[in-house]
Amino acid sequence: MTVMKKVLVVGASGYLGRYVVNEFKERGYHVRALVRNPEQIKTPGTNGEPAVYNIADEIVTGDVTSPESLKGLCEGIDIVFSSFCPAASDSKRNNFDLYHLANRKILDQAVVAKVSRFIYVSVFNEDKISDLSLTRFHEQFVADLEASGLSWAVIRPNGYFSDMERFFAMARTGHMFMVGQGDKKMNPVHGADIAQVCADAVNGDCRKIVVGGPDIYTFREIMEMAFLACGKTPWITSFPLWLAEGALMGIKLFNRNIADLMSFAVEAVKSDHVAPAYGRRHLQNFFAELAIALK
Ligand SMILES: NC(=O)c1ccc[n+]([C@@H]2O[C@H](COP(=O)([O-])OP(=O)(O)OC[C@H]3O[C@@H](n4cnc5c(N)ncnc54)[C@H](OP(=O)(O)O)[C@@H]3O)[C@@H](O)[C@H]2O)c1
Repeated sequence: MTVMKKVLVVGASGYLGRYVVNEFKERGYHVRALVRNPEQIKTPGTNGEPAVYNIADEIVTGDVTSPESLKGLCEGIDIVFSSFCPAASDSKRNNFDLYHLANRKILDQAVVAKVSRFIYVSVFNEDKISDLSLTRFHEQFVADLEASGLSWAVIRPNGYFSDMERFFAMARTGHMFMVGQGDKKMNPVHGADIAQVCADAVNGDCRKIVVGGPDIYTFREIMEMAFLACGKTPWITSFPLWLAEGALMGIKLFNRNIADLMSFAVEAVKSDHVAPAYGRRHLQNFFAELAIALK
């Protein structure tokens, strides 16, 4: 008799986490999902990610910053997957030390439970955006994971389709601002395609896996595609990089969250961000689905 392997998904209510719950379940795993609010996963996410309430085998309600709610989280677990990310709207988000400690607590539990693999999602091109608080938070944990003695895999995805939704939302207003000329390239990737890579990562050597989508676009092409999906004529106003960088310096003094978001956007347009291609889902179809959902 084959014993069903158990996977814990931390971040199971998020864009990627939901696809990962789905993917592991389809591959025959027993899935334990950690969520803050089970009600949230009863319906699909805003970018089409699945409702997983009836897909997960076990739902644990907990908050990573509340150790009491995490008791026994890794008991009986073979594989831990984490796409945990402090929400931008979370008032505690600036306190990355708190979240680092929380992540450590889960890692400590995984070590005690002797899990066979810990899969963690960080960011792509971490060296180019090493100044961002979120990058430092992720990379601190990656270092902890490498030193833990556990078998691990770190996934480094390019921009998610859920992030490209911002372009779609702006296109709906009929106008978009763009930093620079929009000529740099990237290959965004669908959550379901990343989830397959994550589930494939349970086996093999400890490794870092860089993941992009199947199509490479310039930023301007992505914007134009978003306008077309909305049925609007592209109207894009570009402003120079030096202006964005100057504004960024000022904003850094007042609001770290907005500064992080802007730094990311500014960094993104400075160079190409093309990762090894995985998957088969296309951004054009994603935008078309968003447009249909509005009707
Ligand atoms: N978006 C991108 O383009 C991109 C690209 C590369 C890498 N990444 C990385 O990929 C990871 C996943 O991204 P995503 O877009 O799937 O993120 P997401 O949708 O924001 O999901 C984050 C998950 O973390 C959970 N969470 C936040 N605070 C929590 C807490 N205190 N206790 C328990 N759970 C908590 C969220 O729960 P709630 O639903 O309750 O908030 C959610 O399930 C992130 O680490 C991100 O940095 C993202």
